Amino acid sequence: MDLHEQYRKIRKIEWKVINAIFSEMWNYKYVPSDLISKKARLNEEETLKALKSLGGMGIVENKVVSYLGSSLTFKGITLFSLKRLVDRGKLDMLGSKMGEGKESVVYNCYSEKFGECALKFHKLGATFRKIREKRDYGDLHLSVLTVRSAGKEYRALRRLFGIAKVPEPLGWEGNAVLMELVDGKEIYKLRLEDPEEVLDSIIEEVRKMLLAGVVHGDLSQYNVLLSDDIYIIDFPQWVEVPERVSEKDEEGKSIENSEIDSYQAILEANSENWRQLLERDIENILKYFKKAYGIEKDINSVINYVLAE
Ligand SMILES: Nc1ncnc2c1ncn2[C@@H]1O[C@H](COP(=O)(O)OP(=O)(O)O)[C@@H](O)[C@H]1O
Ligand SMILES: [Mg+2]
Repeated sequence: MDLHEQYRKIRKIEWKVINAIFSEMWNYKYVPSDLISKKARLNEEETLKALKSLGGMGIVENKVVSYLGSSLTFKGITLFSLKRLVDRGKLDMLGSKMGEGKESVVYNCYSEKFGECALKFHKLGATFRKIREKRDYGDLHLSVLTVRSAGKEYRALRRLFGIAKVPEPLGWEGNAVLMELVDGKEIYKLRLEDPEEVLDSIIEEVRKMLLAGVVHGDLSQYNVLLSDDIYIIDFPQWVEVPERVSEKDEEGKSIENSEIDSYQAILEANSENWRQLLERDIENILKYFKKAYGIEKDINSVINYVLAE
């Protein structure tokens, strides 16, 4: 069953239950069913019935821990995010799936407010698993991490839009980031007419991002789209360069969901590595252009160039 059909099948009572789980998932890995009842203002019977039916649809996972508790699955958090975007007037129609990776599912969509756009639902990425091992996040459900990942990407786009060539961020709800649709393809799918020029523009974008205090962290031929111009995408792994944080970002902090306060820890976990990640980003790109087009560029001079203020 696709997302549209699932969405239409969910009844009002079930949406209430989904919302209740979302609002408490920061506090419980499995939200107790009596708390769900209370939050959703439903009686026990209605709640249990809804949980059972949502469980059957794969939208929640019900589990007896020392009590009966529930959490949202990837499908569940995705439907929740979709509903929020619709209710908040940011989205009117979900289009077709444009891509599905290890870390995300991306749809094109239509919004009366913004026109055609791209909607990226975050899944749990490998990075988060790694970070999770290193740092103690307590016993949070993975769906919480997908929300953090989306928030993190949204924050990078907010900071960079207008400074570097990234899609315009249009909204963030749950694990979804709504953004400008780029009518282009990943550069690895193309035979570039002027690869030198494209490479130079990518290096230029890396420099501009760095001026805004951002290192991409996962830059490669897979995350550069080319339409009339290049666009850098896919920011959940970005790291902050502390000494380059601008005022614009201070202002950006107010847009964070209040629920996601410890998300800053993810940035901190990484920020000591920014220099290494920057070098790796540049290395990835240079390697690709060397292999695909035989272009040789000295990595150290590129690094020095992007680091010059
Ligand atoms: N704003 C966008 N406009 C057009 N296509 C996009 C956009 N964002 C993502 N995509 C498409 O979806 C794919 C996956 O998105 P990406 O952000 O790279 O996530 P992942 O972490 O799964 O690689 C991209 O390679 C691209 O084809
Ligand atoms: Mg990608």
